[in-house]
Amino acid sequence: MNHELVIVLDFGGHYNQLIARRVRECGVYCEVLPFRTPLETIVAKKPIGIILTGGPNSVYENGSPAYDKALFDSHIPILGICYGCQLLAHLTGGTVTAADTSEFGKTEVTLGDSPLFEGLEKQEICWMSHTDYIKEVPEGFQITAHTEHCPVAALENRERRLYGVQFHPEVMHTENGTKMIDHFLSRVCRASRDWQMAQFAQESIAMLKEKIGSRKVLCALSGGVDSSVAAVMIHKAVGNQLTCIFVDHGLLRKNEGDEVERIFTQQFDVNLVRVNAKDRFLDKLKGVTDPETKRKIIGEEFIRVFEEEAKKIGKVDFLVQGTIYPDVIESGSGDAAVIKSHHNVGGLPDYVDFEEIIEPLRNLFKDEVRKLGLELGIPQNLVWRQPFPGPGLAVRIIGDITEKKLTLLQDADAIFREEIANAGLEREISQYFAVLTDMKSVGVMGDGRTYDYTLALRGVTTSDFMTADWARIPYDVLDKVSTRIINEVGQINRIVYDITSKPPATIEWE
Ligand code: XMP
Repeated sequence: MNHELVIVLDFGGHYNQLIARRVRECGVYCEVLPFRTPLETIVAKKPIGIILTGGPNSVYENGSPAYDKALFDSHIPILGICYGCQLLAHLTGGTVTAADTSEFGKTEVTLGDSPLFEGLEKQEICWMSHTDYIKEVPEGFQITAHTEHCPVAALENRERRLYGVQFHPEVMHTENGTKMIDHFLSRVCRASRDWQMAQFAQESIAMLKEKIGSRKVLCALSGGVDSSVAAVMIHKAVGNQLTCIFVDHGLLRKNEGDEVERIFTQQFDVNLVRVNAKDRFLDKLKGVTDPETKRKIIGEEFIRVFEEEAKKIGKVDFLVQGTIYPDVIESGSGDAAVIKSHHNVGGLPDYVDFEEIIEPLRNLFKDEVRKLGLELGIPQNLVWRQPFPGPGLAVRIIGDITEKKLTLLQDADAIFREEIANAGLEREISQYFAVLTDMKSVGVMGDGRTYDYTLALRGVTTSDFMTADWARIPYDVLDKVSTRIINEVGQINRIVYDITSKPPATIEWE
């Protein structure tokens, strides 16, 4: 694929992936490379622009991440952000030092004349996070923005196409930050914006076709977004040379196994082997109450079932992995091959007879995988499926798991999801589900006393699932869910809503 390329040179800041996502949202392909990447490697990739990211260090300290000064004479447009801006100033002859007043958070910035700020107001809100500042700008540079405490909030040398901003245009709180990045790409780098999902899909399918030829491919389908999109892409490239194995451990949400089967066999005509292994899994889990033991049993059994099915197929040439770009970046290598066993099917590559791993999504961010999924015709509800743990409902039934409890939970969870959808809250809440506790309490129904299960509802909002806030679901929605579950499911006589954030709680209960 021959796309124009922007390189995001990573100096270790928090928001580096966000910068890359913003660039791609502007229709320009970009790659994140570690700051140790040699200049020759970067130049050889012929980027139309380079963005230097933020980072936690001080440029003037020994051992801080630095870069070859020749970068600034390479005639490639450069935008430095935060640490990247200070590094640009430091390496081209300016002075960077500790600021008398640090700035954190939303800050009013006064913008001057710059291609980056065209069409913006003179005063804008930006997101600051710095303890150092540029005291003296390098020769040939102009100051193009300032704040109350930061005399150099942006600088540039238009002739050399070198730009820097002290604030973070990539974060949402810089209200017109994406516009600034967009201006850098279009007005400075002269990008033609050739990164479009429809085109990417076509090109990737053609490439996969050529790479795979007449050979055989095996994919472990979980029903999640990544493995589904990867499978459909490969299917479009090589049709029935692809076999998908879908191990249904019976711990999926209500009707989910059938839904996955329907989409893949009826809509896409994929060669799908569905293994209905519910009894096998429930048998192994009988009497087990410890969450980690449950996880371990399911993980091991999953591999065993997959292996048995894979053996029936015999040797395959390629095994599909749903690796996505954040995994590649986090591996720290940027471009080395990463073999990361899928979260849900840990360790597969050791057990299956295959020659090569194929990773059709390794250049995409999650939001791009979704866009691609829609482009390929995968239904909305699968593309927007909320995350679901590999061990499934086993970690949402507290204590031991029985078939009866599983059905109760599936029914209650389905009602909760239906009402969230009816209220139009599906995209607002990052993850929401029901948990069947192992507690029973007394209730009264009609004239009779009941002694039944307590069900907990959980809803969280989060952007990264590392921290999360509990979702403020409107009372009337919760009320409707509660009434319906009690009336329609049976054996549940009390519903509670979990109002703990993460930390201190986790998202799942087990
Ligand atoms: P926690 O409970 O750790 O969950 O706050 C964070 C996110 O990870 C998901 N999760 C899992 N996903 N296998 C998975 O594939 C697992 O064993 C697992 N445990 C938790 C959870 O649903 C949430 O999105």
